[in-house]
Amino acid sequence: MTHPHETVRVALGDRSYRIEIGHGLLINASDWVSPLLSRPRVAVVTDDTVGPLHLDALRDGLAAGGIEMAHLTLPSGEATKCWRYLTETVEWLLEQKVERGDMVVAFGGGVIGDLVGFAAAILRRGVRFVQIPTSLLAQVDSSVGGKTAINSPHGKNLIGAFHQPSLVLADVAVLGTLTERDFLAGYGEVVKYGLLGDAAFFDWLEINAPDLAAGDITKRIEAVRWSCQMKADIVERDETEQGDRALLNLGHTFGHALEAATGYSDRLLHGEGVAIGCALAFEVSSRLGLCSQEDPSRVRAHLKAMGMKTDLHDIAGDLPDADALMALMGQDKKVTQGTLNYIMTRGIGEAYVTSNVDPKVVKSVLVDALA
Ligand SMILES: NC(=O)c1ccc[n+]([C@@H]2O[C@H](COP(=O)([O-])OP(=O)(O)OC[C@H]3O[C@@H](n4cnc5c(N)ncnc54)[C@H](O)[C@@H]3O)[C@@H](O)[C@H]2O)c1
Ligand SMILES: [Zn+2]
Repeated sequence: MTHPHETVRVALGDRSYRIEIGHGLLINASDWVSPLLSRPRVAVVTDDTVGPLHLDALRDGLAAGGIEMAHLTLPSGEATKCWRYLTETVEWLLEQKVERGDMVVAFGGGVIGDLVGFAAAILRRGVRFVQIPTSLLAQVDSSVGGKTAINSPHGKNLIGAFHQPSLVLADVAVLGTLTERDFLAGYGEVVKYGLLGDAAFFDWLEINAPDLAAGDITKRIEAVRWSCQMKADIVERDETEQGDRALLNLGHTFGHALEAATGYSDRLLHGEGVAIGCALAFEVSSRLGLCSQEDPSRVRAHLKAMGMKTDLHDIAGDLPDADALMALMGQDKKVTQGTLNYIMTRGIGEAYVTSNVDPKVVKSVLVDALA
């Protein structure tokens, strides 16, 4: 059976690139990568979960076009986004004699994409890189838009750079080996796009998401295409987040507070926090009279139908009280000059950025959600 192939263009002048989305792209990787190379050699960085599963397919796909591949395998997991592995990656790339004209490949989820993208940004003051995202989250979100970073003990993603990839290859075939939990966490970011800017996408997801979660390839390609197109549109308008790009943080101020409250542990994955955060953002918007009361119910009903974490009670273990969660929200990056910017909504697909939100209302929503 042949599947559709989709291309999304990210138009950023001389930093423009294509996102190729399809099924079985690894096998044909050289078709996409070759035109970008000055010599037939790439340096690939992956993690120890993705490598054993998919690196052979990538190696074969590159070799078919005469491209040689060296690789570095890092431990999987968020803790890898740190100085130690950044250093290890950069030094390995130098050992591999990667030069300004060469191409570095990030082959993994958002952790590998963020770390390797940052390594490419600082190596020799910037070498080009290709994102080959392997998690749903990375295919719809982290591989697109050029934000790269590692974490600090002071917080997530605090050390990084804007560095756009030269190409993104999203092969939905590799999503087949994700755990259901990782797949659904990535789906949290997919829902976010519908909720923040496109009611028609949310309508489509309400009908089609059960199929795509069950493995429907055509629908997976469509969901990745739609998400990437929305992200590309926003990034084209606001590459470095002076304004509109903040819309992509719908659900994230709550989500980041919950991630911090659970110690960035297995208790709550990033995409799970985003999904719960979206439900909370709609609840606050409804209480402020910005959107109808039916909207938060519809959001929660969809998340529940997908078997996702939806409410604070779905997080295992104890959570801090509303005041403590509010304090954690205040530590989020989206604070400018002491004011917390919220992403609120006038309805499904109609999010906007505002600092004008009564903290008492936010607190009352949290108190009720914790009760
Ligand atoms: N740069 C951005 O714009 C941006 C946007 C959103 C998120 N992020 C970052 O992305 C990270 C989260 O990304 P993630 O959820 O992909 O995390 P991840 O990279 O840790 O991947 C999640 C898990 O899935 C595994 N995995 C990946 N692909 C697989 C596959 N095909 N088969 C089996 N297992 C596979 C990984 O080894 C890991 O254990 C966070 O660090 C977050 O800050 C960045
Ligand atoms: Zn996110």
